[in-house]
Amino acid sequence: MHTQTKTSPKTCLPAGRPFLKWAGGKGQLINQIKEYLPPEIVAAKRIEKYFEPFVGGGAVFFWLSQHYPIKKAYLYDINPEIITAYQTIRDRVRELIKELQQLEEQYFKIRPPRREKFFYDRRTEYNNFISVRIKNHLVRRTALMIFLNKTCFNGLFRVNSQGLFNVPFGRYANPTICDEENLRAVSVALQGAEIEVKDFKHCLKKADANSLVYFDPPYRPISKTANFTAYIKDGFSDKDQKRLKKVCDELSEMGAKVILSNSDPKNVDPEDDFFDELFSQKQYKIRRLDATRMINCNSEKRGMIKEILVRNYPLLKEPK
Ligand SMILES: C[S@@+](CC[C@H](N)C(=O)[O-])C[C@H]1O[C@@H](n2cnc3c(N)ncnc32)[C@H](O)[C@@H]1O
Repeated sequence: MHTQTKTSPKTCLPAGRPFLKWAGGKGQLINQIKEYLPPEIVAAKRIEKYFEPFVGGGAVFFWLSQHYPIKKAYLYDINPEIITAYQTIRDRVRELIKELQQLEEQYFKIRPPRREKFFYDRRTEYNNFISVRIKNHLVRRTALMIFLNKTCFNGLFRVNSQGLFNVPFGRYANPTICDEENLRAVSVALQGAEIEVKDFKHCLKKADANSLVYFDPPYRPISKTANFTAYIKDGFSDKDQKRLKKVCDELSEMGAKVILSNSDPKNVDPEDDFFDELFSQKQYKIRRLDATRMINCNSEKRGMIKEILVRNYPLLKEPK
């Protein structure tokens, strides 16, 4: 079960991958996003300072850290549970693996019909930690978060209006609960990273002309039924999207390189120019990328949609 840690052939860095499935995860878009990296970074083959202020599952961070050694990473999210998980993996990966292995063993010892009860008991245990609001038992808490993410329906992290995890049981025959080699690789990738619960604007305090900042904020909902902002209880409004644009302006002034992705509102309403108007100044370039996304609660309604990619720098050659 435990094979060798995979390494990227180009750089020999450990190949850490997202350790959680996360709503809005960017895994499927990386092949396109990588065509739009700043030419200076591509030429230098390294990144001085990398900021991901809406880190979520961190798909872009993990991809970049395998291909462009990052001198210093700053990973923020407003969600304290995801940040606790990153910090625990960075600082206490050995204890975490032990705890997860125990959960895995217990889960597979139980016959499938009774696994559902085990899942709901662990969900209650996890929610008790959240509702007490004290930052304690960090290893157990992170282990439970990963366990629930791997065994719940659709592998999501969704909370209700009180901030409690409310995804039902998933009925997977053989989920990988403790991916030891990946957790170790993730821990290596996170060494030296600043990981904090912060609003996205915090990056202004630390960024400079040597920084690459990737913003992947909660999507503007692309249909009235698709509520993709459900993973935080306070949502992300158009006012926040505008506040974020101001942060992009300040970063641009200091010479930082900025990339921002979001859903394209034109998927639903071709007349909706929200982002085109918001980023209308000359320094911003907007491209539209192809993505596959669930556009409805009904998983049969997966379809091709566009995502927008905004950046504040030119490329040597624009991809077609
Ligand atoms: C689209 S997801 C990011 C997905 C991520 N790029 C990935 O690949 O998994 C957006 C994230 O923004 C976080 N968030 C929401 N509002 C925020 C805010 N004001 N400041 C920082 N993070 C915020 C959410 O908790 C969520 O994890």
